[in-house]
Amino acid sequence: MAKIYVTCRVFADEIERLRDAGHDVTMRAEEGPISRDELLHHIGDADALICLLSDRINAQVIAAAPNLRIIANLGVGYDNIDVPAARARGIVVTNTPGALTETTADLTFALLLSAARRIMEADEYVRAGKFLGWELLQEHLGQDVFGKTLGIVGMGRIGTAVARRGHFGFGMSVLYHNRHRNTEAETELGARQVSFKELLERSDFVCVHAPFTEETRHLFDKDAFRLMKDSAILVNVARGPIVDEAALVWALESGEIAGAGLDVYEREPKISPGLLKLKERVVLAPHIGSATVETRRELARIAVDNVLFVLAGRSPLTPVT
Ligand code: DGY
Repeated sequence: MAKIYVTCRVFADEIERLRDAGHDVTMRAEEGPISRDELLHHIGDADALICLLSDRINAQVIAAAPNLRIIANLGVGYDNIDVPAARARGIVVTNTPGALTETTADLTFALLLSAARRIMEADEYVRAGKFLGWELLQEHLGQDVFGKTLGIVGMGRIGTAVARRGHFGFGMSVLYHNRHRNTEAETELGARQVSFKELLERSDFVCVHAPFTEETRHLFDKDAFRLMKDSAILVNVARGPIVDEAALVWALESGEIAGAGLDVYEREPKISPGLLKLKERVVLAPHIGSATVETRRELARIAVDNVLFVLAGRSPLTPVT
């Protein structure tokens, strides 16, 4: 029997699968992020950990877990885990690639459309009883999406799924910036690989899907925003620190860009007061990229399978390599 610690609430039937296999599972029932002390307390005798992208699994946590065999992250990104430190101890790290691709691409488009068509502002207007009838020059004139240029920064699974929606659904021209060429997207969608600078200069909508690394930290700074069209909308569903949030507030306030759809923040869950004040063409979501019942269930299923496999001495399904 192994000890498994789960840092967040997970679907009961998935937890049952761990218990049915004879394991001793402790699932944290409280909402909100786990504190460092609480994590260090529970990790001490754990053989397996199921955690969230908001749980910082650093070298200190790993050192405090002498029995740990697997860290199963509920999500595709794993920048919250010190993977080299885990690897040095022979601890397997797993994520959930693929499971949230389409869901996150859907949310990207939801944010893009909401910012472009000013849905949040329009909703507020209607609820405030201000809608007095159709007018040609009515408030909340937005901008077209169909036929525009879509710039994708990070053309992996999610970036490509967003590009597909843009190409097939909205007749958009797709530009992308990525370390590697994505020939499949080029053939299927006519996507064109361009420099970061060209992407910023030519895109009407810029969507961020790159992983967060030291290289991508503050990729979007004042200089980047200066290069973007003043009518452009930025959508970030990847990781907050890829965008310098202070620079983004500056860019929105000064009209360097027109709007933003954000699901992630630089100091999550804290959000710059400057950003919260901006409502025109700015849509803010609380990191809900993968937040559908189907997808969250799938994340839990994959994480649980990975734990069961590793504890049974088998290879995990989706190791971080
Ligand atoms: C992930 O899995 O990395 C996403 O950010 C979750 O929404």
